[in-house]
Amino acid sequence: MSFSLAHLSDLHLPPTQTDVSWRRLNGKQFLAFLSWRRKRHRVHTFQPMAALLADLASYAPDHIALTGDLVNFALPAEFRAVRQWLDQRGAPTDISVIPGNHDLTAQVSWQDGLGQWDAWMRGDAGGARGGAECFPFLRRRGPLALIGLSTAVTTRVFSAAGQLGRPQLDRLGKLLAETSREGLFRVVLIHHPPVMSRGGERKALRDRAAFCAVLKRQGAELVLHGHHHVTSVVGLSGPNGTIPSMGVPAALATTEKPEIAGWHLHRISRTNACWQLTTLVRRYDSASDSFRQAAEWTIDLPLAQ
Ligand SMILES: [Fe+2]
Ligand SMILES: [Fe+2]
Repeated sequence: MSFSLAHLSDLHLPPTQTDVSWRRLNGKQFLAFLSWRRKRHRVHTFQPMAALLADLASYAPDHIALTGDLVNFALPAEFRAVRQWLDQRGAPTDISVIPGNHDLTAQVSWQDGLGQWDAWMRGDAGGARGGAECFPFLRRRGPLALIGLSTAVTTRVFSAAGQLGRPQLDRLGKLLAETSREGLFRVVLIHHPPVMSRGGERKALRDRAAFCAVLKRQGAELVLHGHHHVTSVVGLSGPNGTIPSMGVPAALATTEKPEIAGWHLHRISRTNACWQLTTLVRRYDSASDSFRQAAEWTIDLPLAQ
């Protein structure tokens, strides 16, 4: 028996005309809006949506993880549109959401902003609502411990950086230790990649070294992230060996720059000796308007000691 986890990210759900009134945008939102008008509206479109949903349905994953950047300018109408989209996907207990930098392009009240997605960001224990203290949340699903982090911070213009902060890192360490003792397959959901890559500091996770230090100390079986809109795999240091960290393309991208739409399916099973993680890379083919297999790999991971 294996547990299947679909990983989608960076929906950047295209706004409708009525969602955006430029008179209500602050400086950073206005620049994001100009970028959208100039090129991003050609990248993130509804075109792959039907094929994406059909492909997801054909695999019937046990759980779906969405790792942020679900909107573009952080407008209340966008948060409501994503909420409607999530509502149509199934029970909030079967879908986990974390925010990305675009979801905090501007400060929006919890009620009009991220609070719209509260049911999808709620840990099993409930806990504090209404700000950074909601994270990390912990959801136990089958053999998995899904730990959702927020790297979303409102930054200055032209910055897409992220930050976890010490309190969140401390809580993460405790949750990793607790779920390790329970023998669960720990999946850490984070929007920004944990290592420096394209875009440099301007797009990076500021406290990535501290994040990697927590992982090195407490361990995790898998890190899933978005942000760069490409399939990527790197190894992070853990106490029992390497921790795979995987990035996924934007779920609705229709151009090759940086990468066409894709999502990943992770199948997790346990033997007496190890965890087995099989990953299927599903990528959009615009000619046939369907998703196809672009790659598949299997990794054996040590059981936590
Ligand atoms: Fe993004
Ligand atoms: Fe991002």
